[in-house]
Amino acid sequence: MVSTTFMPSWVYTSAAVAARELSHYANRFWHPLAAAADLTAGSALTVELLGIPVLLTRPSGEGEVAPRAFVNRCPHRGVALQATGGTGAACRRLICPYHGWTYDLQGQLLAAARESDFLERFDRADWPLQALACRELGPLIWVALTADPLPLEHQLDLVLQEAADLFAIPRPLLARQQRPLACNWKLAHDNTLDDYHVAIAHPTTLHREQGPVRDYRHAFSAHGTLLATPHGQGTFYTFGLAPWTHLLLWPDQRLALISFLPRGSTAAPASALDQCSMDVWLFGPAALAAKAAGWMDDMQSFLEEDRRLVESAQRGYGSQLTPGPVHRLEQRIVQWQALYHRLMDLDSMHPG
Ligand code: FES
Ligand SMILES: [Fe+2]
Repeated sequence: MVSTTFMPSWVYTSAAVAARELSHYANRFWHPLAAAADLTAGSALTVELLGIPVLLTRPSGEGEVAPRAFVNRCPHRGVALQATGGTGAACRRLICPYHGWTYDLQGQLLAAARESDFLERFDRADWPLQALACRELGPLIWVALTADPLPLEHQLDLVLQEAADLFAIPRPLLARQQRPLACNWKLAHDNTLDDYHVAIAHPTTLHREQGPVRDYRHAFSAHGTLLATPHGQGTFYTFGLAPWTHLLLWPDQRLALISFLPRGSTAAPASALDQCSMDVWLFGPAALAAKAAGWMDDMQSFLEEDRRLVESAQRGYGSQLTPGPVHRLEQRIVQWQALYHRLMDLDSMHPG
């Protein structure tokens, strides 16, 4: 039974809610952190997720080798093994710039400088890098921040039910842009699940891509929602996925990922109340690379229309709005909000 009301506005403005989102919500899920094609065998790259520095590697070996993820932090004195922003450079070993501890791409310590002179018995096997759960699925590398996230196939259940073959096709990342938004990430996520506004707010952009509202088909699963619309001879899929991601799939194998990440950190969760980061990734066949810049411009045109709306809604929610009734075309929002409500155990919290 779908809820007939939206989440109350205090959930968007409460520092206590923001503080709980990492442990109760974000940590339950996998996060797409890199394009699988950008991490070739024998290379490493660095990224940041929710303020946590992450190092991805793909050891070389026989056949396909699974990627690995580690906290990008030397176990000796905490220095990053590689600077954040490193892009898939070939490397056989990871050498800490501070005292030279040297790791293989599996995260095992190979050598420490002046190893016989530690004050206590020193065993390399005691000092591996801190590993994070890591998977490769579709064109992406996914990482979880805890050892027991939801199975990735559950998180992507609807994608795998509706478009598994299209999703699985390997393809390169053609373009990526990150932009700040002055709103709570949930307002941006709600908006991207909102099929009620598209014809009104995006008449010449997204609405043209999605076509007439009478052709909309919706589907729902435990962790995802789908708007499917006819597109040429095929289907254009817009999946809403936990925790804050939207996956768009076109029949010509283009794939877009739009995520709205809170900008707070564990140390300062309240800063996530009214700012988030929009991260747009475009994947597609290499043959479409020349068109990627125009495609990104098209995406950013409707996302700019959305930015004005969600930043305005942020001001509305900040003035203690009681949200109005839910339309049939807003069911993807309340479906997702029910999942968020349950995982966050909002019933145990109070407005404030
Ligand atoms: S901090 Fe890395 S070797 Fe000392
Ligand atoms: Fe929109």
